[in-house]
Amino acid sequence: MILDFSPGGNQPSVHLATPAKVNLFLEIRAKRPDGYHELETLMVPISLYDTLQFQMSPDSQLTLRCSHPDLGNPDENLVLRAARLLRDTVGITTGAQITLTKRIPLAAGLAGGSSDAAATLVGLNRLWNLGLSRPQLLPLAQQLGSDIAFFLGDGAAWCTGRGEVITPCPVAIPLELVLVCPSFGMSTPAVYRALRVPASPIDGTAIRAAVQQGDIDAIAQSLHNRLEEPAQTINPLLADWLERLRNTNATGVRMSGSGSTLFALCRDRTEATRVASAIASEAGSVGAISRVLLVRSCV
Ligand code: C5P
Repeated sequence: MILDFSPGGNQPSVHLATPAKVNLFLEIRAKRPDGYHELETLMVPISLYDTLQFQMSPDSQLTLRCSHPDLGNPDENLVLRAARLLRDTVGITTGAQITLTKRIPLAAGLAGGSSDAAATLVGLNRLWNLGLSRPQLLPLAQQLGSDIAFFLGDGAAWCTGRGEVITPCPVAIPLELVLVCPSFGMSTPAVYRALRVPASPIDGTAIRAAVQQGDIDAIAQSLHNRLEEPAQTINPLLADWLERLRNTNATGVRMSGSGSTLFALCRDRTEATRVASAIASEAGSVGAISRVLLVRSCV
């Protein structure tokens, strides 16, 4: 997360750029009595950012402005839920005007909404001068959603529990990735409902070792996502595009999170550019893909 604070006389403001993530590995270990799933996932922040601006409000109102047409009711958005939770936790009634610029696609398995929520906790903590540490913000993030705590950290992490228990897991090399973003989103609860919990979950030791060694071939061989199969049964176009992406001979190919974004892991920028242009030209003739993006993991 990149934070910029402007004291600005009596109109202080905070600007934040907050990243998307991809899952290099995602395995489900069990369904829990509370309906969530016990999982193990390796999440990596990438160079695709939403930006948020936080300004003091003249009154106690919390408002969210966002020009994205698909964002829905701002009152139910995770940004305002995070703002209200922070305010209630510290017992203040100070207001804020929040402006969100979305670049991370919605319902895409890239955790854009979760990243925005984490940024809201960090941004308002700064704007309102609350002085809370990251460990103090952590339980709020964990309460708000499974992926949010990850974004309070600074890099790749091994995430367990329902996704909210974070252990840093640095990647030794920057990863070159091509994101293939379909024009349709996926509903995370629907994908989990279609999932069959594996009798013998795959172990994540190999991918953790591979990222720590910076061994791109070993990383590519250990890419895994248990949600890929249920997502494909809901929307077979995902299987279609995974196949097209594999046909480019990218070093590795997977879906991120509960979809719909697919990604190619590439050996270098040259391979990434080749894969991106091959997929972009197929997308142009076949349709169903809204964006093809070249990104890097954040180090
Ligand atoms: O925690 P979050 O609100 O992001 O989760 C969205 C939905 O994804 C949950 O309501 C649940 O259906 C599903 N989920 C799950 N197990 C997890 C994380 C999410 O079943 N570990």
